[in-house]
Amino acid sequence: CARKTVRTIQNLYEQKIPISVVTAWDAITANIADEAQIDTVLVGDSLAMVALGYEDTNALELEDMVHHVRAVNRGNRSSLLVADIPFGSFEESEAQAVRSAITLVKKGKAQAVKIEGGVEMAPTIKKIVQAGVPVMGHIGLAPQKHNTLGGFRLQGNTLQSAVKIVEDCKAIEEAGVFAMVIECVPNKLAKLVTDSVSVPTIGIGAGNAVSGQVLVTADILGMEDKKPAKFVKQYMHFHGQAKLALENYNDEVKSGAYPDPNHHGYKMNSEVLNKVK
Ligand code: KIV
Ligand code: NA
Repeated sequence: CARKTVRTIQNLYEQKIPISVVTAWDAITANIADEAQIDTVLVGDSLAMVALGYEDTNALELEDMVHHVRAVNRGNRSSLLVADIPFGSFEESEAQAVRSAITLVKKGKAQAVKIEGGVEMAPTIKKIVQAGVPVMGHIGLAPQKHNTLGGFRLQGNTLQSAVKIVEDCKAIEEAGVFAMVIECVPNKLAKLVTDSVSVPTIGIGAGNAVSGQVLVTADILGMEDKKPAKFVKQYMHFHGQAKLALENYNDEVKSGAYPDPNHHGYKMNSEVLNKVK
């Protein structure tokens, strides 16, 4: 089916139909999201941790992101394709941010970019939108700023930080975002924001009074052997099942039970075999 666009997301929002977003980092995860008819596939910089084994998202380079966006594009034909702008690729200047956004569109075929930040990023967001690249905002917990925030923790639970989040959301709405991720804030604050802006809010750890939800696919599938964050719902436990399967394979290789020549091999024409001998 035809690829969804920012227009599709707008239509869902207007019809009050919740918007589904998941992350993808390669063709396999992108294809699963495609077949599950997920509205938006986000090549989140969480791929730095999930797929590349980094401690946080900060080491990811723009070229790394392009590489993964291209793979996701090849694996997914229907979801709106949004790419994160990595840490270090937009903070220096508006020009740097516009250049990075355009690179993700030109080289990765992203249809939109996501950028972390509120009031301080609003002028930059405006420039990217003016350049013709739709922008998804990202408010609340900003993982790229975990060094400043002192970790990955709930945001907006004090008066000062709640007021800041509302201001941030209004500023980026004004700057022209087509949607905004709201990460790790109390449910009621996410509702308040959702009621006070007129673009979709995509929650992660923000309750259900928002316009849509996003989760990291590795979390949904239980791909890692670790306790997930409170807001995650694991829909399967891939890690445990996959580990059992590989242990089983290992045992069968060692014992010779796999491959079974009658099922997993190819028969040879006996005349040819005799001549080869
Ligand atoms: O990088 C990411 O996966 C994200 C989502 C969790 C919103 O930014
Ligand atoms: Na991200």
